[in-house]
Amino acid sequence: MDQQKYEVIVLPDLQAISQAAAERLSQIALDAVSKRGVFHLVLSGGRTPETLYRLLSIPPFSSSLPWPQTQVYWGDERSVSLNSAESNSGQAWRTFLKDVPVPEDNIHRISGELEPRLAAEEYCDLLKSFSGQEGEWPRFDLIFLGLGDDGHTASLFPGPIRQEEKNSLVMAVTADYGDRPPSRITMTPLAINSARNIIFLVSGSRKAAALDAALNGPTDLEKWPVQRIRPENGRTVWLVDQDAGQDAGQDAWANL
Ligand code: 6PG
Repeated sequence: MDQQKYEVIVLPDLQAISQAAAERLSQIALDAVSKRGVFHLVLSGGRTPETLYRLLSIPPFSSSLPWPQTQVYWGDERSVSLNSAESNSGQAWRTFLKDVPVPEDNIHRISGELEPRLAAEEYCDLLKSFSGQEGEWPRFDLIFLGLGDDGHTASLFPGPIRQEEKNSLVMAVTADYGDRPPSRITMTPLAINSARNIIFLVSGSRKAAALDAALNGPTDLEKWPVQRIRPENGRTVWLVDQDAGQDAGQDAWANL
């Protein structure tokens, strides 16, 4: 991976990376609102961001962030209803969105209850409706992403790269990952790689090999989908706890 374009920060544990993520989110949000009047934020699913989300639900973040100017999206969703425990948007709602003054009209969830291809088309249209002068979809100010121990991120899973992934903003996929719902809808690298900022949150020793592959290569986009995330003109920060960072080696960030 090009060393110029990313930064790796290793902190002791999940609490520490979550605190650092909340602080960075705050800086990026305030900067976006002061420059452009709006903050476009993309959330991830999975268990890792729950600690961050709970921090956002309480002061200082619940009161100091520019919530009324924040537009909230998801990088991926499972094909389940909003009230399912497996719903990424349901999780974010329960853990912080219900507690902060973000207008409900600013919350743009993926319709997990719809047939996945329809949900993908619907979300693609929604993203296009938010396009600004810079392109055909919003240039997100900040995208949070997680990392699976198989190297997936969002719902971009190992295997051949479909044509749809190269020319659609959002697509439906099926994936076998633990006991999680196999049917999903995901933003593609086309949408993700135009972000101004991407923050990966990575915690736990079972992520160590995937993290090492993401940071140190060799490049194998089919085996390690996380390597497909390379923002064209944005900044990537990896917030990693010590358990996850154990295999990546000091060389990965010695010169950063
Ligand atoms: C999802 C995701 C997914 C997630 C990783 C890591 O919907 O599951 O957005 O990409 O971030 O699977 O999940 P954990 O944080 O639970 O390890």
